Amino acid sequence: GRVIFSGIQPTGIPHLGNYLGALREWVRIQNTASEQDKLLFSVVDMHAITVKQDSADLRRYRREMMASLLAVGLDPLKSLVFTQGKVHQHAELMWILSCTASMGYLSRMTQWKSKMGLGTDASPFESTADPKSREALKLGLFSYPVLQAADILLYGTTHVPVGEDQAQHLEFTRQLALGFNAAYGRTILTPPETILAPAKRVMSLTDPTKKMSKSDENPNSRILITDSKSDIEMKIMKKALTDSIEGVTYDRQARPGVSNLIDIMYYMDESVAASPEELAKDMANVSMRALKEKVAETVNRTLEPIRTRYNLIMKDEQRRPFLQDHNEVAASAAKSIAKKRLRNINSVIGMGTLQ
Ligand code: TYM
Repeated sequence: GRVIFSGIQPTGIPHLGNYLGALREWVRIQNTASEQDKLLFSVVDMHAITVKQDSADLRRYRREMMASLLAVGLDPLKSLVFTQGKVHQHAELMWILSCTASMGYLSRMTQWKSKMGLGTDASPFESTADPKSREALKLGLFSYPVLQAADILLYGTTHVPVGEDQAQHLEFTRQLALGFNAAYGRTILTPPETILAPAKRVMSLTDPTKKMSKSDENPNSRILITDSKSDIEMKIMKKALTDSIEGVTYDRQARPGVSNLIDIMYYMDESVAASPEELAKDMANVSMRALKEKVAETVNRTLEPIRTRYNLIMKDEQRRPFLQDHNEVAASAAKSIAKKRLRNINSVIGMGTLQ
């Protein structure tokens, strides 16, 4: 059987990029999995604290993310859906992996640079680097990819469904696994395969040359999976940036805004055409306003059942909190898999038992 693992940070309600690039794929994988497959999906709260979080907000975000994962269709009877921090083995394996992870490799990773607003060639080592930014770079943010590798390797994961922005972390994970195996002369860690969704990079509505992101300070740049019909209409009709070229064509380079809307419409409901290119051809003579109306209508139609389920879950949760209990059960099942693997890993490196 396969082992599928993926994670999402609890930093707000998921947006269309998270949904199309990751969450919907998780649900598809779950619903076509065989009895032998193991499925684990985690709310990675330990990753979220690599940047400053308000504690009350973080607690709410964690709860909202658990509710969102159930609302999109993850089923606790088929998948383990749990918060990462409940399974301490993630932190233990991270330490072990830290001892073979290369600072040089980590310094080339782009995420800490973008979170700190630094250019892609920034280095934490250069003496010419701004000393203030060296103080500001926290160890946890720098070693973020090692924790991500631990998440994956802890369960013997064979496949990781993610959006394109995670490809670099997945490559790091594979290299770390192979390096570890070579160092101990044993095939103990499994290098995982990346599964990229067809909609692997959904772009911002307001700046379609950037990816849609939870951390963009403009909330109109993204559609949340719980947005109301009128929010969806407002963001697409009034805020989405397009261009003044006549008619509709699909060209992600030359017409990023229009192409992103076509992509969003196509991937939200693949029954509308055979491909984004075909959809654009069908709409060739349509006005920008009419295109936007169709996109908003398709997005709303697809999100409506998710929004309804989310609201029901939150209402139930208010009457009788159940997300907490659910998390305990899933985390303890994940923990029992994790414990076994860590016992093996510890034994290979000479840790654990004294015998
Ligand atoms: P996060 O929380 O930023 O995003 C969750 C998932 O959503 C995908 N995604 C997108 N896909 C397409 N278009 C977009 N605009 C877009 N924005 C986000 C991401 O690729 C991701 O799949 N480091 C990870 C969380 C993580 C993880 C893991 C993932 C921690 N441990 C182990 C996989 C395996 C992250 O920050 O995702």
